[in-house]
Amino acid sequence: MGSGQRRWLERQRRDPFVSRARTDGWRSRAAFKLEEMDRRFGLLRRGMCVVDLGAAPGGWSQYVARQVGPEGAVVAVDLLPMEPIPGVQCVHADFSDEAGLHALLKALSGRSVDLVLSDMAPNISGIRAVDQPRAMALAELALDLVPEVAAPGAGFVVKLFEGEGVDALVDRCRSRFARVRRYKPKASRPESREWYLVAERFTP
Ligand SMILES: C[S@@+](CC[C@H](N)C(=O)[O-])C[C@H]1O[C@@H](n2cnc3c(N)ncnc32)[C@H](O)[C@@H]1O
Repeated sequence: MGSGQRRWLERQRRDPFVSRARTDGWRSRAAFKLEEMDRRFGLLRRGMCVVDLGAAPGGWSQYVARQVGPEGAVVAVDLLPMEPIPGVQCVHADFSDEAGLHALLKALSGRSVDLVLSDMAPNISGIRAVDQPRAMALAELALDLVPEVAAPGAGFVVKLFEGEGVDALVDRCRSRFARVRRYKPKASRPESREWYLVAERFTP
């Protein structure tokens, strides 16, 4: 085992969110980030239609399905295959591809969306000049989806990595949503540049 792998295993072993996720039945510790944002901002209600971009292995989708209930709808998109989740329609596709967008639109079959979530993250190379534009491109694509599918008043949550391009995206969101906030959940590792933009009340 390499030293990088050993460090990762040690971090997982010490991480309280990893063991809590296992006992609570969440597929990923990421579920706690969404749960915290939902408690704080009241994002999810029963009956909502929600798109979850970058959904695998499925912690966010599990949480969303529970909150929207059987009268709601959840469409989850990821490059990676996902084990089925009751109440979630899984689309195995690359969202940065035209075909991925079409697969998502087909799964929605004309329903308008109340909340677009994106936890998408590129494979990290470790080279910031490569990773940051890739991460920003995914966030921009998620934002571009909003006017295509969202109902007036819809919400938008997107993972961002602090760095070049973030301010421009925040400005774009400010012109489309009544309220835009930055939030770093407790379950987001403090050493990570990751944080979430939470936008409310989309104005078409
Ligand atoms: C941090 S993980 C998401 C964790 C998830 N929210 C959860 O609760 O389990 C980021 C995901 O983004 C996905 N992803 C990255 N680029 C993508 C793309 N172009 N299209 C679809 N999914 C993508 C990755 O495959 C990965 O599963």
